[in-house]
Amino acid sequence: MSSRTPVLAANWKMHKTIADAEAFLTDFLPRVEEEHGAEIVICPPYLALKTVVELCSQLNVKVAAQNMHEEPEGAFTGEVSAPMLAELGVGGVVLGHSERRTYFGETDDALARKVPAALDGGLEPILCVGETESQRDADATEDVLRRQVETDLAGIADDRLAEVVIAYEPVWAIGTGRTATPDQAEETIGFVRSLIASGSEEAGAAIRILYGGSVKLDNAAELLGRPEIDGALVGGASLDPEGFARIVMAAEP
Ligand code: PGA
Repeated sequence: MSSRTPVLAANWKMHKTIADAEAFLTDFLPRVEEEHGAEIVICPPYLALKTVVELCSQLNVKVAAQNMHEEPEGAFTGEVSAPMLAELGVGGVVLGHSERRTYFGETDDALARKVPAALDGGLEPILCVGETESQRDADATEDVLRRQVETDLAGIADDRLAEVVIAYEPVWAIGTGRTATPDQAEETIGFVRSLIASGSEEAGAAIRILYGGSVKLDNAAELLGRPEIDGALVGGASLDPEGFARIVMAAEP
């Protein structure tokens, strides 16, 4: 068993108003009060961040944003920066989610600036990488992941690499109900770890790499039981407090 602390992150995407977030936490937090050995991260929409930070502050539950701009401030209408998030008590940020890459033109070059900006701003980056179905079918998965990992992390010194969390999310598995098999997830995460280890063996051993893509209660325990898989980034199944609490418990080391 690895000594890496599992991360269970709830990516709410564009779901839940502030009132919805409060209702979720009123139900969810008492369920995870006892010792469970995992790092729980809630990623609400920007407008609910402050409320979620306040409600989670007494418990060991972290809060992350779903995106940020790479500059600390400037003429970037509609954007939010790392210092603004840190001021709220936010502890992390999801970067490079495939929905941002696909619908909002997020590029690896921008991510190469965002990841260091997050770390410098005191936020734990959760960097998402993953191949599309046609890339997997064309046997290009490793090339795609190599390009994403090498470009997005180019600005991070070896001794800080382990402060980044990577989420391997095959695009074909996100929101589709088609989960990667535990073997596929483990093998691909092992490949991502080898990319990190080729720069720094220590970082390769320490960095947490999560699986994401249709994680549900009925597949969580099997995925999370694999030694290479250090947790999960959960979308749809994280919207229900009882269901997500049970997924957290499935990560019991
Ligand atoms: P899903 O989303 O669990 O609904 O597939 C995962 C994600 O997009 O992070």
